[in-house]
Amino acid sequence: MKKQPVDFRPLLLLFHLALAACIVFFVYLLAGDQLASLFTPAPQITEQQKAAQPNQSASLEDEIVNGIHVPTGLIYDEGFELVRATCTACHSAKLVTQNKATQEGWTQMIRWMQSTQGLWDLGANEAPIISYLAKNYAPEEIGRRANLEVAAIEWYILELD
Ligand code: HEC
Repeated sequence: MKKQPVDFRPLLLLFHLALAACIVFFVYLLAGDQLASLFTPAPQITEQQKAAQPNQSASLEDEIVNGIHVPTGLIYDEGFELVRATCTACHSAKLVTQNKATQEGWTQMIRWMQSTQGLWDLGANEAPIISYLAKNYAPEEIGRRANLEVAAIEWYILELD
């Protein structure tokens, strides 16, 4: 009885199919993101649209906790928007929140940045920015209660036996 030679061709075909599937899978793993973005450029446009949408007031309210604007750490008060827009353009708002100064001190810091760090002329925005800073980031002494008036104190004599 002569043995029929085994036909490996179906097996070979199966092997090639599996190999092809593996290659496709690895290409997908390595370059899936780029490939996907080739076919779907839409998300980038919607993100730009989102940024342009003037619905910030709703999200801004979500970002304020206990009077602090959480993303920047700035106190939410009159002039906040100006300060956020102007004073976080070059550096973190931490430089602002970690400092305390009088109106004169803040003015000097702004002058220093203008003469050495390329800060532009703030124009009409300068006054509201400085009053926001001087009010919310004032030296400790200014925030303290007024000194006691000596005349208002009723002195008494401590009698010791
Ligand atoms: C054009 C860029 C620019 C803008 C806009 C800007 N700053 Fe600055 N500021 C700088 C640079 C640069 C420094 C130095 C940073 C450092 O030392 O790391 C600085 C430093 C500071 C410091 C630290 C000063 C010190 O003595 O250490 C404070 C406070 C500050 N800025 C506040 C502000 C405020 C308030 C505003 C908004 C009115 C503002 N900055 C806007 C560039 C800028």
